[in-house]
Amino acid sequence: METKLITGNAAEIESECLVVVALDHGDKQKTDARLAHRDVALEKATAELLATGEVTSKQFETALVHRPQGLKAKRLLVVNAGKAKSFNQTSLRRAAGTALRFLKPKMVKSCALVAPEITGGAEEAVRCLVEGALVADFDPDTYCSDRKDQSMQEIRVVVPTGSNLAACERALGDARIVGESQNFTRELVNEPSNRMTPSILADRSLQMCQSVGLKCEMFAPDKIKEMKMGAFWSVAQGSDEEPRLIVIRHEPAGAPEKPVLGLVGKGITFDTGGISIKPADGMEKMKYDMAGGAAMLGAMRAIGLLNPKVKVIGIVCATENMPSGHAQKPGDVQIAMSGKAIEVINTDAEGRLVLADGLHYARTLGCTHLVDAATLTGAVMIALGLVNAGVFSNNEEAYQRFCKATDRAGEKFWRLPLDPEYFEQIRSSIADIMNTGGRYGGAINAAMFLKEFVDDTPWIHLDIAGVAWQEDRKAWMAKGPSGIAVRSLVEFVKGFGV
Ligand code: BES
Ligand code: MN
Ligand code: ZN
Repeated sequence: METKLITGNAAEIESECLVVVALDHGDKQKTDARLAHRDVALEKATAELLATGEVTSKQFETALVHRPQGLKAKRLLVVNAGKAKSFNQTSLRRAAGTALRFLKPKMVKSCALVAPEITGGAEEAVRCLVEGALVADFDPDTYCSDRKDQSMQEIRVVVPTGSNLAACERALGDARIVGESQNFTRELVNEPSNRMTPSILADRSLQMCQSVGLKCEMFAPDKIKEMKMGAFWSVAQGSDEEPRLIVIRHEPAGAPEKPVLGLVGKGITFDTGGISIKPADGMEKMKYDMAGGAAMLGAMRAIGLLNPKVKVIGIVCATENMPSGHAQKPGDVQIAMSGKAIEVINTDAEGRLVLADGLHYARTLGCTHLVDAATLTGAVMIALGLVNAGVFSNNEEAYQRFCKATDRAGEKFWRLPLDPEYFEQIRSSIADIMNTGGRYGGAINAAMFLKEFVDDTPWIHLDIAGVAWQEDRKAWMAKGPSGIAVRSLVEFVKGFGV
């Protein structure tokens, strides 16, 4: 998809479709739709339509007009972005996405999105419109043989004359990188496990790194065993597919020695549960158990292109979790790279095992701050549903920074606790720690387990099990892989680079 910035009078813009945002200024009883920006010609063209009240009956509803009077555009699409009082970056991203997903099946190949007034100015509007449009352009129907290429060829973003064009161009370029990186993550997550094995994931990482100029290394079983990654290996040993440890470095010239951020992702390309096997119902979903790893790869892609002056190391522990004659069994004791002895109670709690070694390894590489992302527990879905992802941290400052990043990114995370009392749940009688802690507080037990492997390094843990795969389609986004965490991670890293 091409993206262009233009300025000028909406009436003069020649386009397949001009897209404008309307907001509801009314109260509970009555709706009062008005355009989200001032433009006389547009106001004239939409006056009649807005007066009908149709546009504001529901948020993200659309109304299409052909041959709008007084405009050069062939079509005019009005998108209701909801109540004016609550209008924000998220509603603007979604409005842009809604427009795109409305136009795509109609084979409209280009459109012009008129930037509305929003806090942060025109550049903020540009950022949200472009991110929203790119995210909406993704469809997961890769293997449908009747798939039509409906993707949008070009969007133009119309900013008011007098806007800071240099800032708008920068916002557009950055938003493109971020949106495309989120879609890169979604492509990886969407692939079924027979087409996204650990070695294929590693190859895709290498390709990506070569195209954006990042250093990429990958380690096979020999090296994983040599480094004494006993926890990671214990999961990998059950599979006929070789595991891969993927390590990506962003070390730009001129970056300070410290901080060094480590982004560690769970890359289980399929989670059967292992010997503690999962029920058949819904098991096909477990191809998305590498969404945390894919989020780190998407974030690294964006970081490689945006080139913030800060050191970042991306680490993905990629393996399948399979039952077999050489799989680990419940009760087995494994020695992690850190030296800690783990009693494996349930082989289905494999994510924390691979991350234990991933996090410890990141520290040996000199990471001063750690973030991990993982589809770690079903329990986080019980706690937070399908709306918020879970976030945990052992450090207030790091958490506050991350919180700001999620705000800017428009992604939803909710913090869960890590009180030391919870450790009792995972204390083992024959080893240092057990890999499960009973029915209660399952997401916290998993996070407490990881905490043992980061020591006192400031650390953020993201449990994205509930939000990495969207169960139904939204007006602004397809059903399927969401690419959650990519945008927040990029914002977080940018915040460290200043
Ligand atoms: N990959 C799963 C968690 C998961 C569940 C992700 C549903 C996405 C959707 C993880 O490896 C797992 O199996 N966790 C177990 C842990 C339990 C055995 C302590 C779970 O949540 O049931
Ligand atoms: Mn599992
Ligand atoms: Zn898993």
